[in-house]
Amino acid sequence: MTTQKYHKEALAHPVFKTLSHAAQELGLEAYVIGGYVRDFFLGRDQKKDIDIVAIGSGIGLARAVANELPGNPKVTVFKNFGTAMVRHGDLELEFVGARRESYSRDSRKPIVEDGTLQDDQNRRDFTINALALSLDPLEFGKLLDPFGGLDDLEKGIIRTPLEPATTYSDDPLRMIRAIRFAAQLDFRIERDSLNAIGVQKDRIRIVSPERITDELHKIMATDKPSIGFGLLHKTGLLGYILPELVALQGIEEREGQRHKDNFWHTLEVVDNIAQATDNLWLRWAALLHDIGKAPTKRFDPKVGWTFHGHEFVGSKMVYKLFKRLRLPLNDRMKYVQKLVMMSSRPIVLSNDYVTDSAVRRLVFDAGDDVEDLMTLCEADITTKNPKKQKRYLKNFQLVREKITEVEERDRIRNFQPPVTGEEIMEAFSLKPGWEIGMIKEAIKEAILEGEIPNEHGPARDFMLEKGRAMGLSPNTNKP
Ligand code: CTP
Repeated sequence: MTTQKYHKEALAHPVFKTLSHAAQELGLEAYVIGGYVRDFFLGRDQKKDIDIVAIGSGIGLARAVANELPGNPKVTVFKNFGTAMVRHGDLELEFVGARRESYSRDSRKPIVEDGTLQDDQNRRDFTINALALSLDPLEFGKLLDPFGGLDDLEKGIIRTPLEPATTYSDDPLRMIRAIRFAAQLDFRIERDSLNAIGVQKDRIRIVSPERITDELHKIMATDKPSIGFGLLHKTGLLGYILPELVALQGIEEREGQRHKDNFWHTLEVVDNIAQATDNLWLRWAALLHDIGKAPTKRFDPKVGWTFHGHEFVGSKMVYKLFKRLRLPLNDRMKYVQKLVMMSSRPIVLSNDYVTDSAVRRLVFDAGDDVEDLMTLCEADITTKNPKKQKRYLKNFQLVREKITEVEERDRIRNFQPPVTGEEIMEAFSLKPGWEIGMIKEAIKEAILEGEIPNEHGPARDFMLEKGRAMGLSPNTNKP
């Protein structure tokens, strides 16, 4: 079904006139296609990257367009993919020649650009992404929608233009993309398509981790990430991507003792944190905060199920997982590791009477991430018992208040020792050596324990006393 509708308003930006003109000069048909058109109909924020398909050479059209644009922007050519990119202000114009064969982006073979528009649309991922608007001056803005993509947009359906098996085997990443779009747009994946994913899931192995991770980030950034991760699980894809999470699924019972299903619990935590923050890495920390529970699970007849040291084991697992998914191995990874490692600390705290020294230690260890840690812990409360939930939240509120209070008084965050190593050396006429480290550590401990305030005078007195106790003699020459 090709709808005879015009949508000139989608092409209001002057750049579309330039595109139209350049294509006409070359005697080419050209269309705007893909995400830009989809998002126009969805009324979503208009995308900054615009896909243009030419019936003929996409690279040739890119060059002609760049020539006509003010400042003659550079044309970046991706020869193997037969594509080209031109930047214009904040827009990124992506050009491709219509293809008859597979769309695959990972193909090592150069792509033959010899298809019609319909050939190209056939080879796209979903009907909603195959919508095209004509750039022909005589049909400017005409919608070409051979698969009822507009209808699917209205009904909220993710459907492939061809048999799902064909579309997915052209590029298996599309299996995850289907889930990502369903999660992002709150759409439903059509049944045959969903079944096909279940059948072909194994093919995800040939897709590069970078592309998979890109999609995972997008799922993670949705309002309710459990939708996407739940679908990844349901289709069996998750086992290839994040087996550590799948290992958390299930409830075991022994001697009448059951533990919670840590997979579904984790997804609830991720949804909770998504309500609280846009911080992508805090969301990752929530997803991974319990991964150490599978390898540490034990049953002890006296106490029931235990997961001793799961935070430590989990934080060690983060490195391997990040490496495998090509996630950054820099400060971001360290941040996620730290949050996983510390994820039970405030809980332990809030179970007891909250002492100042425990709070000081928490702030000392978490530093500037202490608020994020609290947010994670609050998200971790998934009890269905309203009384308990209220109590936990209240306790955490108390911890937060104590953090502010202790911080104002003791400035533990980004702790700088109030007495420097040089001062210690001078005080006892020492050369650099282990004694300095020992005294510094003792000062820090005394501050964290609340024995002395975090101030220079009292810390210096403490240092002198400690040194004497260690058998050091104070330097009497200098004050
Ligand atoms: N496409 C495809 N198969 C893929 C990736 C992309 O068929 N595996 C096609 C779709 O027509 C898609 C277009 O290429 O609309 C552009 O892809 P991309 O920029 O990755 O996605 P968008 O649809 O633009 O959406 P988003 O920006 O949300 O990723």
